[in-house]
Amino acid sequence: MPSASRRSLRFPSPPLPPEGFRYFPGALDEGEQRRLLGEVLARVEQAGWFQPTMPRSGRPLSVRMCNLGPLGWVSDRDGYRYQPHHPVTGAAWPDMPPALVRLWERFTGWPDPPQCCLVNFYRPGARMGLHRDEDEEARDAPILSISLGDAAVFVIGGRERRGPTCRLRLSSGDVLVLAGEARHAYHGIDRIVAGTSDLLPEGGRINLTLRRVTHR
Ligand code: SIN
Ligand code: FE2
Repeated sequence: MPSASRRSLRFPSPPLPPEGFRYFPGALDEGEQRRLLGEVLARVEQAGWFQPTMPRSGRPLSVRMCNLGPLGWVSDRDGYRYQPHHPVTGAAWPDMPPALVRLWERFTGWPDPPQCCLVNFYRPGARMGLHRDEDEEARDAPILSISLGDAAVFVIGGRERRGPTCRLRLSSGDVLVLAGEARHAYHGIDRIVAGTSDLLPEGGRINLTLRRVTHR
């Protein structure tokens, strides 16, 4: 006679997000989203977007990027790294809007301030392959992620690239915190769901990823 455990083996439950994954749907109302977007875009327009490329191949990623704060994440033929200046213009990154620092404090409670806000711009069709955030020295600090504009299908697994993953639709105003195990998990963006938000005048999605990079 099949035991209960046999049955649960035959019908495994869908994978759950890892420990430390915290999801706050609709955390920012529309007014907050518009204000934040305005503050971010004013800075990005002044600094300029850049087109990151893959380390060895030099193939362009499908997202465009910019950074705010003292350190910015960049990727080109020389690899992934943080640097204090824009890779095209050589100028220092614009400052981090104080509203973002307040969101970091409120959602992460981490004692040290964020040093980098990576701004990712996804047009419909753009995606982000499965990866782990591991270019930071302070990998014990959580990551804060804010979604603005069109929805996206977010995928998260565990520490193994080929392990089981689960999916979640991120909408404009949603906030995620990756702490604990989730801080070290493979994750990515499978696709953008075009036409789901009119926050960005020309459509698309902006993701703000705040990180602590160095130890104090
Ligand atoms: C990332 O993991 O770098 C971005 C995730 C997102 O766009 O939500
Ligand atoms: Fe990431």
